[in-house]
Amino acid sequence: DAEKADYKARIKALLKERDAVLVAHYYTDPEIQALAEETGGCVSDSLEMARFGRDHAAKTLIVAGVKFMGETAKILSPEKTVLMPTLEATCSLDLGCPEDAFSAFCDAHPDHTVVVYANTSAAVKARADWVVTSSIALEIVEHLDSEGKQIIWGPDRHLGSYIAKQTGADMLLWQGECIVHDEFKAKALRELKAQYPDAAVLVHPESPASVVEMADAVGSTSQLIRAAQTMDNDTFIVATDRGIFYKMQQAAPGKTLIEAPTGGNGATCRSCAHCPWMAMNGLKAIEAALSGSDMENHEIHVDENLRHKALIPLDRMLDFAK
Ligand code: 13P
Ligand code: SF4
Repeated sequence: DAEKADYKARIKALLKERDAVLVAHYYTDPEIQALAEETGGCVSDSLEMARFGRDHAAKTLIVAGVKFMGETAKILSPEKTVLMPTLEATCSLDLGCPEDAFSAFCDAHPDHTVVVYANTSAAVKARADWVVTSSIALEIVEHLDSEGKQIIWGPDRHLGSYIAKQTGADMLLWQGECIVHDEFKAKALRELKAQYPDAAVLVHPESPASVVEMADAVGSTSQLIRAAQTMDNDTFIVATDRGIFYKMQQAAPGKTLIEAPTGGNGATCRSCAHCPWMAMNGLKAIEAALSGSDMENHEIHVDENLRHKALIPLDRMLDFAK
């Protein structure tokens, strides 16, 4: 509508004026992803977002995602101004893994290598030996396991137990979860699969083990999109945030994409796998961030001492992923 068109026009002008680029995650709303593509920004998974932000020449990054993505961008590019539509866009994994308690967990097992998921604060990253995202976690743990390392893993328990099972690595798990993926239900998925017997099931590994076990492909957002594109099936049942359907449908035109069921007490809830924090990244909030007012609600700052410490495990991941 007219109001949205107005916002988009203002955002485009502000991006130019501020030498800024929009970096968006696949879970943001389709209009935000489209705007990022249209303006020369990127839409991707959390690993690619980090790389794109680091390598882009723009003076300012506007990160449409959740806070850990903005912090990662700032850790990698301290010379850039890093803005977010709102600093209130957090993540249940980050919230469920406070630095003091996590550090105590690590201190209790000093002989373990500390591997943390990117969905954590800068302070938790600073305590880690390695940072990983879901697209590279399996390979990195395999590598550490081959060196005989014992591992502390945090914070996502589902992703951690999936990786432990795949690799056989010795892993102590922090007990966090993603409130979106934790809601996928195996029983309802089995019923849906019975209705679509030829459908392939695509699952993000932040989902419970009972759901992951039913998957034909398990992977990060970008890996799931690739699976929909390359697998022969005409129909896919997809267990991840519904924001992914925008890109997945573009990548696999003509294929039928169905949301995996969520909801409590065996009841199914369709169209409700959507991260409330990702949903905060609206046009209005992006315009507000770029307009330069109320910066304390938009600009990412990371303490310099923490930044130096967090950069080490982040760079380790990016070097490994090359
Ligand atoms: P990806 O790294 O697979 O994009 O997922 C991260 C995530 O959960 C973002 O919320
Ligand atoms: Fe965090 Fe889950 Fe939201 Fe991703 S979808 S930001 S893991 S709460």
